[in-house]
Amino acid sequence: MKASHPSVLGQSSLFLQASRDNSTMWCYVLLISVLWTVVWFFRDRQMLSTFKDKYVFITGCDTGFGNMLAKRLDKKGFQVLAGCLTQKGADNLQRSSSPNLRTILLDVTNSESIRKAVEWVKGEVGEKGEQGLGWGERAMHLLASQQTLPPRKEWSKVWAEESKVIYPSPPHQQSICILPGLFGLVNNAGVANPIGPTEWMSVEDYRKVMAVNTFGVIEVSLAFLPLLKRARGRVVNTSSVLGRLSANGGGYCISKYTVEAFSDSLRRDMYHFGVKVSIVEPGFFKTAVTNLESIETSLRQLWDRMSPETRQSYGEDFFPNYLKVQKFIMNIICDPDLSKVTNCMEHALQAKHPRSRYSAGWDAKFIWLPATYLPAFMVDIVLATVLPKPAHRVR
Ligand SMILES: NC(=O)c1ccc[n+]([C@@H]2O[C@H](COP(=O)([O-])OP(=O)(O)OC[C@H]3O[C@@H](n4cnc5c(N)ncnc54)[C@H](OP(=O)(O)O)[C@@H]3O)[C@@H](O)[C@H]2O)c1
Repeated sequence: MKASHPSVLGQSSLFLQASRDNSTMWCYVLLISVLWTVVWFFRDRQMLSTFKDKYVFITGCDTGFGNMLAKRLDKKGFQVLAGCLTQKGADNLQRSSSPNLRTILLDVTNSESIRKAVEWVKGEVGEKGEQGLGWGERAMHLLASQQTLPPRKEWSKVWAEESKVIYPSPPHQQSICILPGLFGLVNNAGVANPIGPTEWMSVEDYRKVMAVNTFGVIEVSLAFLPLLKRARGRVVNTSSVLGRLSANGGGYCISKYTVEAFSDSLRRDMYHFGVKVSIVEPGFFKTAVTNLESIETSLRQLWDRMSPETRQSYGEDFFPNYLKVQKFIMNIICDPDLSKVTNCMEHALQAKHPRSRYSAGWDAKFIWLPATYLPAFMVDIVLATVLPKPAHRVR
């Protein structure tokens, strides 16, 4: 009995010591977290001092986010080069913005159209080359061509002459070129339809969507990379919460997953060249992409072309019920405030330290992105419960 006293005392003092150590550790964790948050907050709010003479090329500016972003950047003084799919879209945009904003017709699924857009952008950014660079960069260019730096007051004159030719750079400065380059590329163009149960799709349906959302983004980015490297610019790729969680069949989710993967590898590969890559992941917003009428029209086409056997397995009630559920969900979650998305795109272009990922919209922040961290079976159960059940189901 006597011997047990010191050991109980010893154990309780050990316990007290351990809980003191534990609380000290948690204090440190809390302190570091608070510090990290404060530093992140202030770092995130540091903006570039001027946007004047910063060239930004945006795809898909006819309507939606692209259209709004183009107008807002134009108002802020960016040099906006807007790619539009249709002449009507380009004319409308031009009418509602300053003469500084320029438009070009661009179909991101057409290589020739992309090539023409790159040539056009080269001409646009080259035209105002001198204003596009700071004095430090101009000095580097002049050094590269002249080997010695002329007196400061002669820089403008020498620069004007140099601008007419692309001079051979010394080997250690091969990447330096006379063109100031492109500061920002926003890959925004996208299509969604058809969206629906996987079995209703044909491989062509996938190709159609991925031609715009996947290969469009890849080809445009690769084509503009040399210009972006010159300006140590930024790429902003428009993905979606459906690029993090595949909630429905069709090419859309797959295409946005590929945008995520492409952007991550591009960001890592461009790190050493000073090109920054951001991904914007909007939730659901009221635009042409989420227009219920067009989603329903394309779904009806899929339903009508289905083989009688497949159709029977779903049952005749399935289609109207699917539309009903879809309408109910879309009416609740589609946000009419598109500026939540363009604010993210603007931050990616204006901030000194753009983020790798932006989530836009309450549904993205509180439903979709948290759901990606849940076990897959939980998300499966929720979706299976919410969506209508096929007639010939086996469970
Ligand atoms: N709205 C949402 O809820 C939501 C959510 C997440 C992500 N996004 C993404 O946000 C981006 C913008 O979409 P949005 O919602 O603003 O819809 P939107 O108004 O339809 O914008 C898409 C734009 O892309 C253009 N476009 C379509 N095919 C093209 C092609 N082959 N080449 C060049 N441009 C093309 C469209 O031109 P036309 O108008 O002439 O067809 C339109 O201007 C898309 O990438 C979309 O996937 C949207």
